[in-house]
Amino acid sequence: MNIAIRKITENDHYEIELVAKKAFWNLNMPGCDEHYLVHRLWNAQCYIPDISLVATIAGKAVGAVLYSKAKIETVNGSIDILTFGPLCVDPDYQKKGIGKKLLLESMNLAAKKGYKAIFICGVPEYYPKFGFKTADTFGITMPDSSNFDAFMGYELQKDALKGVTGKFYEADVYDCDIHDENYMKAVNEFDKNFPYMEKKVLPHQWR
Ligand SMILES: CC(C)(COP(=O)(O)OP(=O)(O)OC[C@H]1O[C@@H](n2cnc3c(N)ncnc32)[C@H](O)[C@@H]1OP(=O)(O)O)[C@@H](O)C(=O)NCCC(=O)NCCS
Repeated sequence: MNIAIRKITENDHYEIELVAKKAFWNLNMPGCDEHYLVHRLWNAQCYIPDISLVATIAGKAVGAVLYSKAKIETVNGSIDILTFGPLCVDPDYQKKGIGKKLLLESMNLAAKKGYKAIFICGVPEYYPKFGFKTADTFGITMPDSSNFDAFMGYELQKDALKGVTGKFYEADVYDCDIHDENYMKAVNEFDKNFPYMEKKVLPHQWR
């Protein structure tokens, strides 16, 4: 299996949206909205194409990671950092090291470009494998001062966050209120661009 990792181009957009749909479908809610988030990210000001990567096999997209600008607000001003999401791998190709490759290569690229740190809300069992620690380790909280296991950070430069305490802010595009009727109408309309998949209510869904 020859996995190629490269920067995302416009030609990849639809295929990556489809990968996101397949990866998140029925995972956290019946259906999903992550493919719509991906679609909105392409034109969002926060999106950073320079470090966002796609994994392909025989020219077909099988995974991707999308990075965005984020901030830590401190009493002394704000610090530019990164967030990413979604990170997704086509279910037919999961657990073959593709997510790991996408993460490590993009983190390496981001570090080389001088970015200071990454904060995310993600699967708490997955990201610690790559050195992520819960955000409270760094003295960083969510805007409402909360901390939880899924909220994690990683310093791309040594001691980049030494002595820093503050709150994490990501761009508005990540505010995906699935209880907002208009938002879900837009999601369902957008979803018509993709092959039909059945929505299921499953016990592990939390959204
Ligand atoms: C999570 C996801 C990106 C991982 O990608 P992947 O290519 O399947 O993972 P990898 O093969 O690179 O896994 C690397 C390691 O993490 C483990 N792992 C994979 N998915 C995991 C998960 N959901 N939870 C915990 N560990 C996981 C693998 O077993 C492997 O462990 P090992 O190195 O000890 O063998 C992928 O499964 C996915 O798209 N899931 C659905 C969407 C999602 O949850 N995205 C993340 C949202 S924050």
